[in-house]
Amino acid sequence: MSNNLEKVTSEISACWAGLNSETTTAVRDLLIALTKTSENEAWLDEIIKEQPAAKLLYSDPKYGFLLLAHSEKKDTYRVPHDHGMGWVFYAVQSGQMEMATYKQITASNGKTDLVSRGKEIMNAGHCKVFLPGDIHDTLCLSDNFIQYRLTSSDFKEEIASGRMTRFLNKR
Ligand SMILES: [Fe+2]
Repeated sequence: MSNNLEKVTSEISACWAGLNSETTTAVRDLLIALTKTSENEAWLDEIIKEQPAAKLLYSDPKYGFLLLAHSEKKDTYRVPHDHGMGWVFYAVQSGQMEMATYKQITASNGKTDLVSRGKEIMNAGHCKVFLPGDIHDTLCLSDNFIQYRLTSSDFKEEIASGRMTRFLNKR
């Protein structure tokens, strides 16, 4: 009998058609379905008990996308960053995360600054997608925070290639 993780990842793989609205919409819905997994499923029970900083749940052999589970400590802040040429989904399993999104704006005097579009609170069952070039930060607001992160490729390559940019703290 397949579990919800196997079901969701095989459906994501089946609908994956690169970077377009059909894929982002379908994957978002499937990750929301993953956040509804019963805690009786062994793989989720393990994550809840282990609270891993990062745990690889699935690596797609055909398209190269990765699904990871991350736990985060309350008050952990990650500075604004983009994801290089990659794109990423964040789906909250438990707890609460605040995310602000930004855009780099160059003013008429030539000065470039990061401008916030505002903050948004993500609760369990919420999912957000960040497309290439999108910039965001994260602030964990609760204990027992767990989220799923689906990346379009292995982001270690984006970091190693220098395509991924981290900005100064804007809060
Ligand atoms: Fe990110």
